Parts: sequence; C-alpha cells; structure tokens
Amino acid sequence: MKVTVVGAGNVGATCANVLAQKDFLNEVVLLDIKEGVAEGKALDIWQSSAINHYSSRTTGVTNDYSRTEGSQVVVITSGLPRKPGMSRDDLISTNASIVRSVTESVIKFSPEAIIVIVSNPLDVMTYCAFLKAQVDSSRVFGMAGVLDTARYKAFLAGEIGCSPKDIQAVLMGGHGDTMVPLPRYTTVAGIPVTELVNAEKLSAIIERTKKGGGEIVNLLGTSAWYAPGASAAQMVESICKDEKRIFPCCAWLTGQYGLDKVYLGVPVVLGGKGIEKIIELKLDAEEMALLKESAGHVREVMGVLDQMHPLPA
Ligand code: NAI
Ligand code: 2OP
Repeated sequence: MKVTVVGAGNVGATCANVLAQKDFLNEVVLLDIKEGVAEGKALDIWQSSAINHYSSRTTGVTNDYSRTEGSQVVVITSGLPRKPGMSRDDLISTNASIVRSVTESVIKFSPEAIIVIVSNPLDVMTYCAFLKAQVDSSRVFGMAGVLDTARYKAFLAGEIGCSPKDIQAVLMGGHGDTMVPLPRYTTVAGIPVTELVNAEKLSAIIERTKKGGGEIVNLLGTSAWYAPGASAAQMVESICKDEKRIFPCCAWLTGQYGLDKVYLGVPVVLGGKGIEKIIELKLDAEEMALLKESAGHVREVMGVLDQMHPLPA
C-alpha cells in the first residue's frame, strides 16, 4: 500500500515520518517542488527505520508525479504557512494556485486516490481541490478537526490533571476562530467534562483552543507541525486500515445540518472508501447558530475563491 505526501515542509515531513513509524504501508512518497528537499528528508526518515524498527520505505521526489502513481491516499500539505499577523484567509490566493496544480497532477497518476487536504485556509483549500479533482466528495476532505480536538484535549488534560487518552470530544465548524466546540459532547472517561472543570475555566480552554494555531504562530513565527502532521497521519491510518474511526473532518455538506454545498468540520466515519458517513448530531439551538455562523464565514471565503478562479463554463 502506497501513500503520497505532497509538500516536504514542516507538516508534510512530519506526517511522512509518523506514517513510516506506524509501519502499515509499503511505501511513503514525499514530494516537493524544491530540488532535493523531499529526497533529503525521505532519506533521513528512512535511515531512522532501523532504530525505530519499521519497514515502510520512504522515498523522496522533486515534482515527479509519475513516482506517486497508484497511491491509495494523497495528503496535500504544499503551500505557505501562516506568519505572525497573517490570517489563514490571507493565504488564499497563493495556496489556491498551488493546491489546484497539485490536485491535477495527483489525480492524473492516482485517479482512485483519496485526497486529504492540510493546506490553509483549510476549508476553502479543500473546496478548491474538490473542484479540481472532479471526484466524489467522499474522496476529498480536509484535516483540521482532528488537530483542533487534540489541542482541546491537551488543554483539558492539563487542567484536570489526567491523561489526554481518556478525553472524548468533538469540535465542529471551520478551522479558525469560528470553530464550534461542544462541551455537551465532551467526556473524561465517561464523566461529563462539566463535572470536572468549572464553567469559567472551560470557557477559557475553549477560547484557547479556537486560537490554538495562532498561539503557536506567535511563539514560533510559523505554524505548528508536530500535531498537524500526526493528525493527518491518524486520518490516513483509519482510511488505509479501513478502521472506520469517527473523526471531525472537513467534509462537503449536502443538506446535513441544514447546510448545503459548503465544506465544514463535522464528525464522520473514516474508512477505506474515505468519508463513509457524515454523522448528524442533535445540536441545540445555540450550537446550531454557531455552526451556521461558521458556515457563513467559510462561504464568504469560498466566494473569494470562486471569484479568483471561476470554473470554466
Ligand atoms: P512549509 O513551508 O514548511 O512547507 C510547505 C512546503 O510546500 C514547502 O516545502 C514548499 O516547497 C512546498 N511547496 C510549495 N509549492 C509546492 C508545489 N507546487 N508542489 C509541491 N510542493 C510545494 O509549511 P508547513 O508548515 O508544512 O505548512 C504547510 C501548509 O499546511 C500551510 O498552508 C499551513 O498553513 C497548513 N497547515 C494546516 C494545518 C491544519 O490544521 N489544516 C495545520 C498546520 C499547517
Ligand atoms: C494551525 O492550526 C495554522 O492551521 C494552522 O496550527
């Protein structure tokens, strides 16, 4: 089984490294446009195989998509990361051109591939890839909810003094300040989170989660990569092993939650066919209003993309 990661930068190389260490793939192909970068990082990752005891082969290529042929899953991380003071939406123009051309090449050599988008602004880049790929939306979706949920769990675990492994949670909406955290659906080893964390602290954790990406951009001068790379790898694992795990993913909605033709973070079943089911939670009025607000924001940016890159008639 073969998986390609496009973009051998911080997130892409981390994702390839995590995938290789999980040891369920025959080959992980890392591709970048910069001469030698993917080859160098892939070689470095492969040289850790004897130490970390795995057999998955990692190979690097400079922009040669023929080497990605027959990939079951392709993760697209190519694009600029966010710099301090830059919103995700500022990235739209440059990253849309990159995502469009990469998607075209990916589909040419792996027409059956499932495509996981990571490039920002996430929801709109996923839409951009969907328009270009011209395949069923169950095969084109984005990674954000797994990361946002992981951040939420990490902050909660720190507050409660428990293992993040025992926290179950789901976040919805767009990847950004309008994400919709759902404390009603957050439990710690089966215990409602509201029994363990008071309302004020929970609300502070939710706010910190919403700004989780920006917090790291301000510290590092570029965006995060360890958790994002691991998040994308976890999605790939669920697909390749047909695990049917339930993750919040950026999915194309066609009437679910009363929303149509918009890419938005919702819980889905992720298996061998990609998104096998979109789960519709029974949101209350307040949660639904937040989700619709988030969808409205994503739609605005989708509109910007539609104007920049109108579809041919
Ligand atoms: P990076 O700058 O370290 O890596 C990006 C790589 O893409 C570079 O190596 C660059 O050469 C490559 N690239 C650019 N154009 C390309 C093309 N046409 N074909 C192939 N490769 C190309 O950036 P980093 O930190 O890895 O972030 C990548 C993207 O992921 C950014 O857009 C960032 O905002 C996004 N991101 C999204 C997250 C999410 O939750 N969805 C989380 C973290 C980052
Ligand atoms: C993140 O959430 C910036 O989307 C990037 O870390």
